[in-house]
Amino acid sequence: MGRGLILGIESSCDETAAAVVERGERTLSSVVASQIATHARYGGVVPELASREHLRAIVPVVRAALAEAGCTLADLDAIAVTSGPGLAGALLVGITYAKALAFARGLPLIAVNHLEGHIHAVLLHEKEAQEDSLDAQSLALVVSGGHTHLYLARPVDGTWRYKLMGRTVDDAAGEAYDKVAKLLGLGYPGGPWIDALARFGDAKAVPFAFAQIKTKLHLAGKPPRTKAAKTAPIAELDTHFMFSFSGIKTAVLRYVELHGLRAEAEARVARILAGARPPQTKDEALALCSQQVLDLIASFQHAVVGDLMKKTFAAAEALGAARILVTGGVAANRELRARFAAEAERRWVRVAFPTLALSTDNAAMIAAAAWPRFVAGEFAGLDLSADPSLVLGR
Ligand code: KG4
Ligand code: ZN
Repeated sequence: MGRGLILGIESSCDETAAAVVERGERTLSSVVASQIATHARYGGVVPELASREHLRAIVPVVRAALAEAGCTLADLDAIAVTSGPGLAGALLVGITYAKALAFARGLPLIAVNHLEGHIHAVLLHEKEAQEDSLDAQSLALVVSGGHTHLYLARPVDGTWRYKLMGRTVDDAAGEAYDKVAKLLGLGYPGGPWIDALARFGDAKAVPFAFAQIKTKLHLAGKPPRTKAAKTAPIAELDTHFMFSFSGIKTAVLRYVELHGLRAEAEARVARILAGARPPQTKDEALALCSQQVLDLIASFQHAVVGDLMKKTFAAAEALGAARILVTGGVAANRELRARFAAEAERRWVRVAFPTLALSTDNAAMIAAAAWPRFVAGEFAGLDLSADPSLVLGR
């Protein structure tokens, strides 16, 4: 073995990413080509466009990752690639390219679950920060545009095992952010916009409530309603650790209709489509939204973060997890980070996040997650194919 260099490749959704990570603990490069500009005018990811953009970006992105890491293909020890969950056509671009590289260079190929990747984005940061609770049993909240899942993560003989403890029964939290932003006439993706605007509103203005999910019986026999639902079974989960974010989206819509805010939202659309950036000051925020809309946004975010917090900390306590890992695009949210950190301090548990850059999709997390598999010799064959609804743990 050489230096333990793994090239990671990620193309499951709307970012084409490549990274080189040394021994799963040192990021030598992490390059992300975002397709946001391509999808923004449609207000969401268009799968066909995503595949086309991945095809365009994959070669230059891998080249840039190698150049930034100061290495060539000859220095690598393995190629790691996301094999699911995600968009089938998008995944295939990364997988096909990774297979070709592995075959041409005679390198082992490692398949990584995207969700395990997100969890390793935090573990990578913990290693880089040289935290001492490295191998503690942890509760991981993966909260992104496609997922709101709670996993118990345990280290066993150098690799990690995951058990699904809870998840959303409908929309993911990031999906709620994106849908609420869309109906308010804000930019895509909605998370960064709502994050920036919420600071200027009164979070107590609109009392949004989350009902406790009392029974899953009515869900058990039904086919899954959403993409997120397909990736994990719900039958054995504790209802206390289950989420639902489709109700709050409807509540926001009702508030907008009831208070005559639709015209204001429509007026914003043209401006945002012209490429406006999230506001940084109170004046910029007010120029974009009425105080009433800022209050609505602040209340929405306060409620979502509160619900994520309540269930995550309850699960950590019930399961005796010493550490909470929060990861995925929504983990970039400032209010979420501040409130989770404060609550963790109050309860004497450790909470850890990825760096901001590694919160959203990237390939460093894929290369990091591949390291324990590389050491254990868990390699994929050249018949590896995309699994759009790949499940992590059980
Ligand atoms: O992990 P990610 O890049 O892709 C998925 O695997 O889904 O997450 C993207 C999601 C989007 O829904 C986006 O609106 C949300 O993360 N997001 C945020 C923030 N930045 C991104 N949500 C809240 N606050 C943010 N600062
Ligand atoms: Zn993701």
